[in-house]
This record gives sequence, C-alpha cells and structure tokens, in this order.
Amino acid sequence: MSRIILEGFMGAGKSACGRTLSKELLLPYMDTDREIEKREKKKVSAIFEEFGEEYFRKAETALMKELAEGSKCHNGVISVGGGLPIREENRYWMQKAGIVVYLKLSPELLINRLEGTEWRRPMLKGGVREKVESLLPVREPMYIEAADYVLDTDGMDIVGVVNQLKLICHGRSSLPRRERA
Ligand code: S3P
Repeated sequence: MSRIILEGFMGAGKSACGRTLSKELLLPYMDTDREIEKREKKKVSAIFEEFGEEYFRKAETALMKELAEGSKCHNGVISVGGGLPIREENRYWMQKAGIVVYLKLSPELLINRLEGTEWRRPMLKGGVREKVESLLPVREPMYIEAADYVLDTDGMDIVGVVNQLKLICHGRSSLPRRERA
C-alpha cells in the first residue's frame, strides 16, 4: 500500500478517522494543520490572525509538495486541511503523494458537527451555516477532482468509515476508483 490522503470539508472527520486508521494499520499519521502549527509554533487561528490566509495557504502548498516529493510519512495516513485542495497545485501534489479519499458528508451533518468550533476555525467566521452553504458548493467539485475515491459517510460512524478506508488501503473496496485526469 502507498500513502492514503484524506480530504474533505471541515468537520468531515478527516483527523479522527485518519488517526484511528493509522493506529489500526500501525502506520505513521500526519495532519497537515498540526504539522504547520508545529513548524510555525502557532495555532492555525493565530497564523490566520497574524499573517493572513495567504501565508497559511503557502505553508500548505510547501508542505504538500514536500510530502509528495519526499519520504516523510511514506506508507502512512495524511489528513489535509479542508481548504488545502482548493489550490490546483495542491491537488496535483496530493495525487502524486498517494491515494486520495474524499470524506463526503451532507451540509446539514457538517453544520451540526461544526457548531461551536468557530473559535478555532477562522474560515467559519461569519457563521457556520453561511460558510458551509457558501464554501461547500465551491469546494466540492475540487475535492471530487482530486479524489481517487469518494466515500459518502452520511449515517456511518467512525468504525464504519475506518473499515471502508481499510478496504481501500488493501485494494478491496467495492467503491469505484475514479479516473485521474
Ligand atoms: C480550513 C480548514 C482547517 C484549517 C484552516 C482552514 C479551510 O482544517 O486548515 O482552518 O479552509 O477549510 P480542518 O478541515 O481540519 O478543520
């Protein structure tokens, strides 16, 4: 197996599922947000506040390129921030880095999960519902474009999602594998 990259909107469960999957498969795990925080010695919210979104996006691109080109977290699980796939360059590096899975969740379920997390998610300033309803339709085509697999997680718990991810890792998923452009 190669690397598995989990993408999706904020609140889709990328980090929780990625961490669990990596533990069960005894593989290294990386969360791009936590890695950027470690390097910058600042929380994502503080990076946005002090340096702005563009600075954070550049850090995401640099990290994704480094991961695709290097051996760090090779044969591992990587969950990427919800906005990372919006840059075309990042989608290219994600695909180079491994198998990309879009963890899809419906807007209402995302809204339920995201309520109360605005304080640590700068992209939700302006209201959870407003942001999900404005950002998701713009981002979803990009998530789909980058994905090898789209995993619809509505109605699934973390065990169900992780089991599906394991099947993907082992090449035994019944989900269709998307053609890459
Ligand atoms: C962002 C998502 C966040 C984080 C940053 C920006 C986004 O990650 O990278 O706050 O633009 O959607 P999560 O998806 O892990 O919350």
